[in-house]
Amino acid sequence: MAAQPDACKTLDPRVLRRDFPIFTRTVHEKPLIYLDNAATSQRPQVVIDAITDYYRRYNANVHRAVHTLSHEASVAYEEAHKKAARFVNARSWREIVFTRNATEAINLVAYAWGLYNLQPGDEVLVTIMEHHSNLVPWQMLRELKKIQLTFLDVTDEGRLNLAELPKLLTRRTKLVGIIYASNVLGTINPVGEIIEEAKRVGAVTVIDAAQAAPHIPIDVQALNCDFLAVSGHKMLGPTGIGFLYGRRELLEAMHPFLHGGDMISTVTTESVTFNDLPWKFEAGTPNIAGGIGLGAAIEYLAALGLENVYAHEQKLLEYALDKLLQIDGLEIYGPKDIQDRLAVISFNLQGVHPHDVAGILDEAGIAIRSGHHCAQPLMKRLGMDNTARASFYIYNSEDDVDALVDALKTAQKLFT
Ligand SMILES: Cc1ncc(COP(=O)(O)O)c(C=O)c1O
Repeated sequence: MAAQPDACKTLDPRVLRRDFPIFTRTVHEKPLIYLDNAATSQRPQVVIDAITDYYRRYNANVHRAVHTLSHEASVAYEEAHKKAARFVNARSWREIVFTRNATEAINLVAYAWGLYNLQPGDEVLVTIMEHHSNLVPWQMLRELKKIQLTFLDVTDEGRLNLAELPKLLTRRTKLVGIIYASNVLGTINPVGEIIEEAKRVGAVTVIDAAQAAPHIPIDVQALNCDFLAVSGHKMLGPTGIGFLYGRRELLEAMHPFLHGGDMISTVTTESVTFNDLPWKFEAGTPNIAGGIGLGAAIEYLAALGLENVYAHEQKLLEYALDKLLQIDGLEIYGPKDIQDRLAVISFNLQGVHPHDVAGILDEAGIAIRSGHHCAQPLMKRLGMDNTARASFYIYNSEDDVDALVDALKTAQKLFT
């Protein structure tokens, strides 16, 4: 059972950093300042320990054997599903399917639901703000199933243009895919509202929560979504593990995604019946260590309290926006109102290419991202090719913001 978080606990990043061994290293002889959290987060020692503990003490395959090690591994792996279920408030842990990442979770829906349920002429509505993960699988189905793909646009400020929604949702709309929070602009979208509208036309809803899940509390029952995709590595967990929440009735009715061992109940030369949820969707030996590590990450985050994580990041965001906007020639993208955005800040510094900005920051030990952030249609819509992006998490402090601002001023001096 995860420790109950203190309702309004102020997180102290200086204390939390001690839980993360990576912060003992330097980069170019400078202390590491990690501001690339939207790409992947760092891992606390408890997560690293959970993984090594599995390999050192009870390494065995799950589900198959009666021996002690296999039993212990199976219990820990199943327990990790239960932690993930509590994390998003699913009705049952059987609604949690472990995948490699959010990308695979969305592909699972595209292949195991879309391929069998979409017909030529049906419509899939996504937003122009999607990460490629929640776009390319539907483009694949457009080719295979001759469906139509329609797009909800954004405003110039980088919010979804909800006024357009009623005319885009038609009786042909069979699936609506929405990014919960933008990895480029930080925008937190009103997904509950959109899901309600989508339900009116009977569409299935898929929420890409890869960016939202690490930073804001998620409740799939309150959202009333059908599917929700999460990546473990963006929320302190290991790489190679994520999960799909799926509404039980839908998962029960769906065909499997991958086929082979573990996902079956009985097999004859003529026929096959499938295993119970969620194993029906977890073919082959799963990422056992990753699942257990993700469970540890979820416990760590749950003990901090996602409300407290969000509050910490809001304070940091406000501070960072204020400081950054004082730099002449620095343009920031996304909503002005900080409550509607995560601490993900995309920006451009006049006269300096984002890759050069990132290079100079690296010299100062500061890790940020530059590029199109796997959201090319959004970038095109907003008239941008590349941006620099600083993204914050629990272990970042105002000192990190100050270091970022100083390094940006250095970059400006060098290039102008
Ligand atoms: C909004 C969003 N969706 C999906 C993904 C894909 O995540 P993964 O690469 O872990 O599958 C990302 C990764 O950056 C993302 O930001």
